[in-house]
Amino acid sequence: MTSTTLMSDTALLDAAREVAHRAYVPYSHFPVGAALIDGEGHLVTGCNVENAAYGETICAERNAITTMVAQYGAQRISAIAVIGLKAAPCWPCGACRQVLREFQCERVIVEGPDGEPLSLPFEKILPYSFGPEALDEE
Ligand code: THU
Repeated sequence: MTSTTLMSDTALLDAAREVAHRAYVPYSHFPVGAALIDGEGHLVTGCNVENAAYGETICAERNAITTMVAQYGAQRISAIAVIGLKAAPCWPCGACRQVLREFQCERVIVEGPDGEPLSLPFEKILPYSFGPEALDEE
């Protein structure tokens, strides 16, 4: 799906789950999927892609974000849903939180232990954060 779209949190989690099935995870066997809506309403998905040099692994969230930039030139994220096929909830790692912060992510949606969507304002998962505006101050 690449069109401008309005989606429920459940539908966004479903899109994350779908892409998680394509994760390349021969080392951790821990598939993750992410589905985001950019500031203009585009849906973009990503999964984790691992590497024999473990440190070169790319998380699902950052794969979705870099695709968002490449495909749409977008610089804002309204919401991102994250699913780990083996863990609920699957919270974004620290590195992904920082990259989400760069693009003013407003909301993070994970799957609660009961299977229901759990939606948090971004500020709650990365308070007191460092962002691009800090570099503008003299
Ligand atoms: N992983 C993600 O894709 N996103 C996260 O926010 C947490 C971790 C991936 C990286 C690695 O492929 C696997 O989960 C186990 O750490």
